[in-house]
Amino acid sequence: MPGFPSLPKRLHGPSIWALYILGFAPAIWAFYLGATGRLPGNAVKEFEHLLGIWALRYLIATLAITPIRDLIGVNWLRYRRALGLLAFYYVLMHFLTYTVLDQTLRLSAILVDIARRPFITIGMAALVLLIPLAVTSNNWSIRRLGQKWSHIHRLVYVIAAAGALHFAMAVKVVGPEQMLYLFLVAVLVAWRAVRRRFLRWRRERAGPVRSQPITNQ
Ligand code: HEM
Repeated sequence: MPGFPSLPKRLHGPSIWALYILGFAPAIWAFYLGATGRLPGNAVKEFEHLLGIWALRYLIATLAITPIRDLIGVNWLRYRRALGLLAFYYVLMHFLTYTVLDQTLRLSAILVDIARRPFITIGMAALVLLIPLAVTSNNWSIRRLGQKWSHIHRLVYVIAAAGALHFAMAVKVVGPEQMLYLFLVAVLVAWRAVRRRFLRWRRERAGPVRSQPITNQ
């Protein structure tokens, strides 16, 4: 298979910063449209929806990095942390939009929603689970936690599944968009389950010379 053109090493750092800038662009643009009265319909709901959808997209992109490397040999591992953190910031903004703009900080209504509306309970659980991942998304934590770090970060599969389920439950009728996100998350979770077996099978087929170690990444 012809190799995928790779970025010169000196551009690795700037490309990660570019990803952060591009990554925040949908939120900044939607905020600008909302602030200038140009979001259609209920602007708060539109903004909340957009932040939720982008959170889910970034979660899925984070999970897709490993299968892309395994299956087509493109190593975008350097972007995984940025994508995961973008997902976290979008969920946080989605939550803040809900609490501040939608519920206008009515604490009791928010608590009742979290306790009584299953889709909000699931969304909240996903946000809570994302916090330890965001806090440990740095080199210091990776060094300090060692193997434990990988175990903690496997939670991202649970979080993505919860996010997709929350999305499907938030709407009255589950349509193709919700189905697509549920399907993508299911495929990525399934890949995680069969990955080691697949890599071992491929290594054995390739023979001892071309074999590569199976990593946890
Ligand atoms: C991983 C975490 C989360 C993801 C990926 C996510 C994603 C989404 C998405 C995509 C929607 C759009 C549904 C639609 O209107 O079509 C949505 C709706 C909603 N989310 Fe979340 N969400 C998450 C966490 C939360 C949290 C923590 C809360 C609040 C505690 C929350 C509250 C809501 C509410 C109230 C709606 C419905 C908005 C409406 O009435 O249209 N979500 N979420």
